[in-house]
Amino acid sequence: MPERFYITTPIYYINAAPHLGTAYTTIAADVFARYHRLRGQTAFFLTGTDEHGLKIARVAKEQGRSVRDFSDEMSAPFREMWPKLDCHYDYFVRTTDPDHEKRVGEIWEQVKKNGDLYLGSYEGWYCVGCEGYYTEKELEPGAICPIHKTPAERIREPTYFFKLAKYQDRLLDFYERRPSFVQPATRLNEVKSFVRGGLEDLSVSRTTFSWGVPVPNDPAHVMFVWFDALFSYYTPMLATPERRKFWPANVHMVGKDILRFHAVYWPAFLLSAGLSEAELPGAIFAHGFLTVNGQKMSKSRGNVISPLSLAEAFGVDTLRYYLMRAVAFGQDGDFNVEELIGRYNTDLGNALGNLCNRVLKQTETVSGGKFPDKGELEDLERALLDELAAGARAAADSFDAMQPHRALEAIWQVVGAANQYIDRAAPWAAQKRGDTRRASTILATALEVLGAVSTMVWPVIPRSADALRAQIGLSPVALGAEDAWPFAVTSRRAGEPLGIAAPIFPRIDAERQSRLLAEFGPTPEGDGGSVAASTSAPKSVSKADVGSTASPATPATITYDDFAKLDLRVGVVLRAERVQGKDKLLSLSIDLGEPEPRPLVAGLALSFKPEELVGTRVIVVANLEPRKFGKGLVSHGMLLAAGPSEALTMVTVGPGAAPGTKVK
Ligand code: MSP
Repeated sequence: MPERFYITTPIYYINAAPHLGTAYTTIAADVFARYHRLRGQTAFFLTGTDEHGLKIARVAKEQGRSVRDFSDEMSAPFREMWPKLDCHYDYFVRTTDPDHEKRVGEIWEQVKKNGDLYLGSYEGWYCVGCEGYYTEKELEPGAICPIHKTPAERIREPTYFFKLAKYQDRLLDFYERRPSFVQPATRLNEVKSFVRGGLEDLSVSRTTFSWGVPVPNDPAHVMFVWFDALFSYYTPMLATPERRKFWPANVHMVGKDILRFHAVYWPAFLLSAGLSEAELPGAIFAHGFLTVNGQKMSKSRGNVISPLSLAEAFGVDTLRYYLMRAVAFGQDGDFNVEELIGRYNTDLGNALGNLCNRVLKQTETVSGGKFPDKGELEDLERALLDELAAGARAAADSFDAMQPHRALEAIWQVVGAANQYIDRAAPWAAQKRGDTRRASTILATALEVLGAVSTMVWPVIPRSADALRAQIGLSPVALGAEDAWPFAVTSRRAGEPLGIAAPIFPRIDAERQSRLLAEFGPTPEGDGGSVAASTSAPKSVSKADVGSTASPATPATITYDDFAKLDLRVGVVLRAERVQGKDKLLSLSIDLGEPEPRPLVAGLALSFKPEELVGTRVIVVANLEPRKFGKGLVSHGMLLAAGPSEALTMVTVGPGAAPGTKVK
């Protein structure tokens, strides 16, 4: 194995807070970094934030903020979130770092010197969500972006073109010579057919906004955000001689949505910047997309779950384990809370936790909580040790192949075999018949296998691995230059002290399960219960977003299903402004716990000064059809308030409910 391993996550846009999707990639990258560290390699794990581009500039403007302040504020949650999920990056790059900007400027000049940039004019389609160009053919009818399902924008402006077409054959040759460059293999075929379909030169600068890295010697242009962002994998590695040794990156971990940028543009940019083929990254691994409880994660559905709230509710390791185990890495998958609880109880609690517990309890009886004296091994021990050797091999091969779900499968096969071994070898029976020597051998073997298992699970569940090790009398996993992967057990000395047995994965009982499901699970089916029954005064709640328009006659009763169609959420007013020429309306930005604040227009101006609303906790009808108010103003939801338009009282909620909490 080479000495070094360099892995990256995408450099995340800051218009959205970190969510389950970005956490998924980051956790996966951390798992691989840890695995390689265990194997004795020095790993470097880079993540960061992508702060330039039209998307960020627009959100900042919408919020009336300076884009630099906005970037500082929005980047921080990423930097702070990942360590809380035990993802320990070695470097956090921001595309606004002066050092990065300076180096990208130098790279630009190099690319220009190589004759790969020329000035022209671009006319075509641009999706701000993707920060990417589209041909007419690639868009859906009505010029809709196939990824974001929002209209692409027609743009026409002077631009520098990058001679991407020139690299078409070279890239195709490269993919042939290095098929492992794009993984999983099925993705390589997609990339190849895209390139074979013909590459066009790429517009790599913009002139209609200025939030980007300035193009050297042409201040009218800023670099296309992807040119700048892709190089942020590279520029921090030029900073010190030690970091230089990590280039080329071994793996860029990305979601399938951004594969083309990484598998086509990125190698072409690097070659153009003067790097050789040997200096291109080892692999681009594109994983699939997660849905949540069977639904696409989206702010309008209100199902964008904060990874931190999941980690707080279930434990960081449970989240990490579930994400790495339940979804075949590389394919799309569903994050299902019921399944997560099931896996926690079964795999972590019943299988691993229980194994540890029963072995320790028996050891207490047989050798007073000290490591027992191992005697002659019998066939049962030999069979278990063979299982361990095979499982460790299979798990390592799977981690090497970036198949963490298979690695975990292999490790849990060993856990299953160890549980069966205890059942069959029955140390309690040996002890009962006075054969302490045999009982000791069985327990010593099981403890050594548990030691090996604790090392193998460490990349995925580091806290639990170390907790388990403490209980079986081992120090936390230590990293060094040696390969620590347990292809065989490490023998221990009789008499070594063991720790205290305590449940590492206490069972989630039915009551806690229903609480967690209510919080994170799919919207429950209605039972016509108290919530609907208590909402008995609809007439006192006016439609604050449309002023005092007459409402159609309300029927005497509605069914629970009618009520359940309403997606009511807790929100916090981030910004409120008067709307010129509309004296009843305020334009608001509401934090609904979604990646981006919700723009809302509400008929509140006769009752509230904008500034007194900022920070107010409100109830929002989150699934109301968007409604236009002219002048480009669109309301994406409605606030609840009571009373006449000129004396409204806001319907509000106590501080216990976080933004985004469903109101039932
Ligand atoms: N800024 C660019 C990347 C530049 S890299 C030089 C970008 N940022 S992003 O914030 O939009 O992040 C996209 C990445 O987030 C995806 O590639 C994927 O890693 C992750 N995911 C976002 N939503 C996801 C799911 N629903 N499921 C799984 N991963 C998801 O693109």
